[in-house]
Amino acid sequence: MKLVRVFSSIGLGLAALLIVSSASAQAAKGPPVMPHDAQGREQCLMCHGGAMEGMKAAPADHKGRTNDSCPLCHAKESVGQSATAAAAIPHDTKGREQCLMCHGGAMEGMKAAPANHKGIDNKNCALCHTVAAKK
Ligand code: HEC
Ligand code: HEC
Ligand code: HEC
Ligand code: HEC
Repeated sequence: MKLVRVFSSIGLGLAALLIVSSASAQAAKGPPVMPHDAQGREQCLMCHGGAMEGMKAAPADHKGRTNDSCPLCHAKESVGQSATAAAAIPHDTKGREQCLMCHGGAMEGMKAAPANHKGIDNKNCALCHTVAAKK
């Protein structure tokens, strides 16, 4: 009996540790806020595409992202700076590429994208919302 208790408290301690370390890993991985104005610098990739010496290049996992998407995560107070995680997509996206047709607020019974999503293009939704893993 005693042994069981010891093991279960070790388990709890480990779980707490895991939660703490994954939370700090996440905080460290959030998008850095760009330290300069975006105005007049809309061609983000001209400087951050890896070709310009002395500039921080966008990480490898950014491949395929377009200039219009960058401020969605890197602008101060952008949606990507939100402390809340973007909900997973509980459905297939094939044949449902027009996200805003259903989530734009006009279709009854569908969760509308929040107000801070104004101006976001359908092609950029999946940058933050990914399809939930199949069970
Ligand atoms: C004319 C060049 C230029 C353009 C265009 C430009 N930046 Fe920058 N950016 C810089 C410089 C210089 C710095 C500061 C030094 C550095 O981190 O490379 C910087 C820093 C950053 C950083 C901080 C990186 C870090 O790890 O601290 C981010 C994020 C960033 N820019 C995003 C953007 C986004 C998003 C755009 C487009 C809206 C953009 N930049 C357009 C030159 C540019
Ligand atoms: C969906 C959110 C998202 C979008 C969109 C996005 N980024 Fe990022 N970016 C991140 C995150 C998260 C990090 C930090 C983690 C990492 O390094 O992978 C990052 C890191 C960076 C850095 C810093 C790299 C370093 O070494 O410090 C630069 C520069 C950058 N992004 C530029 C861009 C540019 C340019 C675009 C548009 C083409 C862009 N980002 C679009 C989320 C995003
Ligand atoms: C034809 C309508 C339709 C289209 C198009 C559509 N969705 Fe959905 N979406 C739904 C419905 C219905 C649900 C609710 C539950 C379900 O399907 O399981 C949902 C749920 C969601 C949720 C979960 C919201 C929550 O809080 O749980 C997200 C996120 C989402 N969709 C994102 C997207 C994205 C991103 C796209 C485009 C790639 C998209 N949807 C395209 C109908 C649609
Ligand atoms: C830069 C990241 C980002 C992009 C791009 C993005 N979202 Fe979101 N989305 C979020 C975050 C974070 C939340 C939750 C927090 C909030 O409301 O700000 C959210 C919330 C939502 C919700 C509400 C879910 C609920 O439970 O109420 C819907 C629906 C949604 N997004 C749909 C979309 C659609 C459709 C697009 C493309 C037009 C899109 N999102 C693009 C980050 C993003």
